[in-house]
Amino acid sequence: MEIIKRTPQMKALAARLREEGHRIGFVPTMGALHAGHMSLMQRARQMSDIVVVSIFINPIQFGPSEDLDRYPRDLAHDAEICMSRGVDYIFAPLIDEVYPENFSSYVIVEGLSDRLCGASREGHFRGVTTVVSKLFNVVKPHFAFFGRKDAQQSVIIKRMVADLCMDPEIVVCPIVRDEDGLALSSRNVYLSAEERQAATVLHRSLEKVQVLFGAGTREAAVLQAAMEELIATEPLVRIDYIEIVDTRDLEPVQAIEDGRPVLIAVAAFVGKTRLIDNVVLNGEI
Ligand SMILES: Nc1ncnc2c1ncn2[C@@H]1O[C@H](COP(=O)(O)OP(=O)(O)OP(=O)(O)O)[C@@H](O)[C@H]1O
Ligand SMILES: [Mg+2]
Repeated sequence: MEIIKRTPQMKALAARLREEGHRIGFVPTMGALHAGHMSLMQRARQMSDIVVVSIFINPIQFGPSEDLDRYPRDLAHDAEICMSRGVDYIFAPLIDEVYPENFSSYVIVEGLSDRLCGASREGHFRGVTTVVSKLFNVVKPHFAFFGRKDAQQSVIIKRMVADLCMDPEIVVCPIVRDEDGLALSSRNVYLSAEERQAATVLHRSLEKVQVLFGAGTREAAVLQAAMEELIATEPLVRIDYIEIVDTRDLEPVQAIEDGRPVLIAVAAFVGKTRLIDNVVLNGEI
């Protein structure tokens, strides 16, 4: 495994690998790797000849009052994890090469980026789609792997790739959870023991919705109220949003109709840490 920090070097390597007929699988991350990331690497390993993982904490997807400065960083540990998963290359680009002085071009997926997480994190998805576009241009992947934990991100990336005729096939992978159900996230390290316990209510609220759905409940308002009621039992948890939307356009649905894929997404602050989780009914993203 090799760690590449220079963008021109990564570009040249990717071009050569493509020319030689290799299938490149790409996993973009912000590092602080966990088993969720590992599952993406594993899927990439199965589908591609060459696996590239990028590690880049993308400043432009953080809001001014967010956690950019204290975001966990540990390249040495990340490299060990990548090595253990059979990754061929880590691309950890230099910030000045990603955003040189006078950088002024952005990729914006309109509409989809303003809803759900986009409503409470202004500019977040503009940052994500811009950096992912740049990374695609450098790494030139045949496949790119994203986690459904960030469901809206996957929907937006898929739309961007379709709209702009980009090459990579987007593969969305299932949510990896801890034993107690909490969705793995690099931000879970911020949680105190008490918050960690309280945070499981997000997953429990989604389980409750699935039970109600299984028993025939279809009205979005009823399902949402059930989630709110359960989450309210944890005083350390403050809901940012609960949304029940069509997976394709992220527009709210009144009722869950047969055959219509629906995303039930929750974002909440647990103490100061913002966490997200979701479930998809009637299909996948
Ligand atoms: N629990 C998980 N299961 C599956 N995929 C995941 C999980 N957590 C993150 N991913 C995916 O890993 C990729 C890189 O995400 P990222 O590096 O931001 O990690 P993260 O855990 O989401 O960190 P943070 O919560 O701080 O944003 C994304 O496609 C994301 O959806
Ligand atoms: Mg993330």
